[in-house]
Amino acid sequence: MVELAPSILSADFARLAEQVQAAAEGGGTVIHVDVMDGHFVPNITIGPLVVRSLRKATELPLDCHLMIENPDQFIPEFAEAGADWISVHQEACRHLDRTLHLVRDHGARAGVVVNPATPVETLNEVLDIVDYVLVMSVNPGFGAQKFIPNALHKIRKLADLRAQRGLHYRIEVDGGIDLNTVAEVVRAGAEILVAGNAVFGNGDPKINARKLLKAATEATLQKV
Ligand code: DX5
Ligand code: ZN
Repeated sequence: MVELAPSILSADFARLAEQVQAAAEGGGTVIHVDVMDGHFVPNITIGPLVVRSLRKATELPLDCHLMIENPDQFIPEFAEAGADWISVHQEACRHLDRTLHLVRDHGARAGVVVNPATPVETLNEVLDIVDYVLVMSVNPGFGAQKFIPNALHKIRKLADLRAQRGLHYRIEVDGGIDLNTVAEVVRAGAEILVAGNAVFGNGDPKINARKLLKAATEATLQKV
């Protein structure tokens, strides 16, 4: 089943609870939280304090995408604040296996993320210990960027590898997902669709989420 994970990066931070509620009413089932530190990516966003407040505002799982250096230092705090899923970048982790175990040891689902320039093959040795793999379809740091199509072959490869190896991770995609790109990522095999600008950028998040999810579901039905 395909799920929509609205990314609050493009939401109005002064009305976060309300915006999250609207996206949930439109069919969003996971709330994607972009954490940026100004070092790993050239932007700064939010930390565990906001996750703690969000935890009280929604019952949906909080998917914390850590775009930070040294994630080990902050994983316990995010888990304690209420993060249900925590993903870390392959490029930011010197000891990726250790970091993924740290996430799991804190009771969260563990995800690994690859930037557009990072091959899926770099994940071969950790695919059996992750709950999900997040394929970046933009260079991380900002919302509303253009979709980079090389994500498609990476999504397909991850779906093939999972079948070949009998693994169970889910495949998430993040960046530039909108009504023009959603069908192709779903047909490639993406199961969790992150969308920021397409949900919160213009208009009503509830209607935007509903439209996007409808397009995604139709693409799922076209899948052979
Ligand atoms: C980018 C973030 C994304 C971002 C996606 O660094 O990881 O989650 O919110 O935004 P859109 O959907 O606007 O491309
Ligand atoms: Zn993200």
